[in-house]
Amino acid sequence: MLGDATTFRPGPLRGELTVPGDKSISHRALIAGAALAAHGEMLRVSHLNPGRDVRATLESLLALGIRIERESDDAVVSGGRLRESTAPIDCMNSGSTARMLLGVCAGANVPATFDGDESLRRRPMEPVAAQLRAFGAKIETNGGRMPVRLSGTPAIETLNFILLTPSAQVKSALLFAGVFSGTAIKIAGDSHSRDHTERMLHALGWDVQWDGRTIALGARAPEARDRAIAVAGDFSSAAFFITAAALTPGSSLVVRDTGVNPTRTGLLDALRRMGARIELRNERVVCGEPVADVAVEYAPLHGIDVASDLVPRAIDEIPLLAVAAAFAAGTTRISGIGELRAKESDRIAAIERLLAAVGIATEPQPKGLSITGGTPISTGGVVETHDDHRTAMAAAVLACAAGPIAIDSERSIDVSFPSFLSTLESVRT
Ligand code: S3P
Repeated sequence: MLGDATTFRPGPLRGELTVPGDKSISHRALIAGAALAAHGEMLRVSHLNPGRDVRATLESLLALGIRIERESDDAVVSGGRLRESTAPIDCMNSGSTARMLLGVCAGANVPATFDGDESLRRRPMEPVAAQLRAFGAKIETNGGRMPVRLSGTPAIETLNFILLTPSAQVKSALLFAGVFSGTAIKIAGDSHSRDHTERMLHALGWDVQWDGRTIALGARAPEARDRAIAVAGDFSSAAFFITAAALTPGSSLVVRDTGVNPTRTGLLDALRRMGARIELRNERVVCGEPVADVAVEYAPLHGIDVASDLVPRAIDEIPLLAVAAAFAAGTTRISGIGELRAKESDRIAAIERLLAAVGIATEPQPKGLSITGGTPISTGGVVETHDDHRTAMAAAVLACAAGPIAIDSERSIDVSFPSFLSTLESVRT
């Protein structure tokens, strides 16, 4: 059980490990299962992410009338039909749950109220609500935030969208609204954001085409057949170990069975340009998603310019890129990361606090950051995580190469990776 303050210790990483199932793919698998249930079919999902966010999606779907049996990391979405829930749907800390289920209910014509924890209540919901209103849904936000109340959705045959926010969650909300309403939709203006929804719908037989910029989803539901999704290892979880091994002398690590969808692996591209030694082995495709074993060896790093077009492919890994930059010779400039202010916490401020804990100053720029690498050494303070799981785990990575680092609480880690600490211990020498 994760608890309060903890101190991460330094040292190299050696050996092999696997990570939990991908959080993004897990949300989508449960939702796609609910869509199949509407047609009387079932979906088996294995290697589901064990964290709190995916539990929020699962419990929300149960509250909305979907039958799901879960045993450990396997689940079967076995039937049911979406119906109004009497109580508000609690999305806990999960922005993906809130945004995608808003799309589901807007498409399925199911009235619902969505709410979340203190952090989720601070995050913007108007961008997704604004686009979903095109389906005819009446969506009232609380000054652009949660709680959000949704009602009344007449059926619409076709819709064309221009994505107004560079967000995979908003894109997926529109796609799921299309799936649940049987509306053919076209979306333009995507920025190569993660394409798991497109890949999953395609793997399950929906008529969907996409090229990184535009997406077309047909109205037809897929033909019945036996269905199963094996969720790939979460690249964003693997990323902590990959980065720690890349910057800690003496490390040599393999993260097996990791999802390496190119819309997620911007961090690998950036680290390689910084001089990291990273190799993909045993590359294959599982349920439409690229998977590989990622092998990493320590090598000295140098600073680079990270252009804004890489950012959507590394949106959750920018704190790790900043940690790597602290150990890289010269300056690293990262552009186009304004969206990071509206994640589980303000992640630009989190990066500044994190690097200050090892004596590295950052220079904020309009929508960006500049970091000049040096010799990061633990300054003995306690890093405030603001209950953000990625900040807590990034602190552990920083400690691997800089020295002991304390954080105020490790509780947030179970949002995505409850076994993070034991997995880290398993590859310490
Ligand atoms: C996610 C998309 C990303 C990411 C989040 C999960 C998803 O957010 O930060 O952790 O599963 O679609 P955006 O909606 O900003 O792309």
